[in-house]
Amino acid sequence: SSRALVKIVEVGPRDGLQNEKTPLSTELKVELIERLVNVGLMDIEAGSFVSPKWVPQMATTADVMTSPTLARLRERHGDKLSLPCLVPNDRGMHALASLMDKHPSTPPLTNEVALFVAATEGFSRANLNKSVAEALSVQPPIFEAARKRGLKARAYVSVVLGCPFEGYVDPKEAARVAKELLDMGAYEVSLGDTIGVGVPQQWEDLLSECQKLNLPMDKLAAHCHDTYGTAVANVLHCVSLGVPTIDSSVAALGGCPYSPGATGNVSTEDVVYALHESGIPSTFLPTPEPGSLLAWHDRGVDGRQRFEELCDVGEWVSEAIGRTNGSRVGKAVRGR
Ligand code: HMG
Ligand code: MG
Repeated sequence: SSRALVKIVEVGPRDGLQNEKTPLSTELKVELIERLVNVGLMDIEAGSFVSPKWVPQMATTADVMTSPTLARLRERHGDKLSLPCLVPNDRGMHALASLMDKHPSTPPLTNEVALFVAATEGFSRANLNKSVAEALSVQPPIFEAARKRGLKARAYVSVVLGCPFEGYVDPKEAARVAKELLDMGAYEVSLGDTIGVGVPQQWEDLLSECQKLNLPMDKLAAHCHDTYGTAVANVLHCVSLGVPTIDSSVAALGGCPYSPGATGNVSTEDVVYALHESGIPSTFLPTPEPGSLLAWHDRGVDGRQRFEELCDVGEWVSEAIGRTNGSRVGKAVRGR
């Protein structure tokens, strides 16, 4: 098929694990990334250079990024493999840059950073300790530092459809913030339904506001959380409207410290299944044959094996961190 592949960005090792309360070892984080790469995910958000006071779980990102295992994976996969890290400010960018200086390698430790701001004042204060305007104003030097280093820069807008402090979010406001980030040089803006309350019509309204501002659809990504159970529907609707990139977490890892009951990201297994069975090619399963993931007795079917291996990673990580597997599809496939 000539249809462009939907790009799947796996964010479990960062967005998923950042909320885990018990400290997880560097070995476990590295093994999760290794398993994800080994089943064929090539865009994996690997960590963040943020305040360890606020997000203690990510304090080991430097160790994860410099681990020998990741070095081997980079050598094996070259620039096909992308392991972006979140940087909230100059300080985070500087920490990453000095790490890269201390550990020069080909390919480099990473080729991409992710910046983040929010669509509402309340969330911006809680997550970034800044107003939306202040948060935007500190981004240009980070983009500039990334550019000088040859790093691609992605940007997130959080709480694009709902906010734990302000409730309903005006899609015009979210689209405006997204535009500012693209204008500053983000190659892509990931629109985050951080607390997982959105429905397909709201995504459509938001995308339509983005189009009114002439934001190219191919520079947008949908970052859905699944608190209200609508994430897979949202993903399919966004893809049908032309959004080329979807963020997801294996086993639906994650949660949001600011919103009671908030769940993790939409699960990668659920996204892969829904896209494939809809005949939509993705970077994980590029040649979908609808129906074939249910060919229980024919594991030779293209994609079936890799799909099961992905579900195994979800089972493995859930058990390793002592959680129930948050992926519906993962549970169904492994529970048989
Ligand atoms: P600040 O303005 O310096 O103020 O940092 P602060 O009071 O929050 O700072 C706290 C301490 O962290 C200070 O140390 C800073 O120096 C230090 P102290 O003086 O108290 O000893 N600090 C740092 N340490 C290491 N690396 C850094 C860094 N920056 C400051 N880069 C800031 C404000 C926002 C940077 C800080 O509060 C922070 O890092 N917060 C964590 C934010 C975060 O990681 N949130 C989760 C990720 S975003 C997300 O999950 C949403 C997303 O998934 C999309 C979606 O779903 O919507 C992306
Ligand atoms: Mg998130």
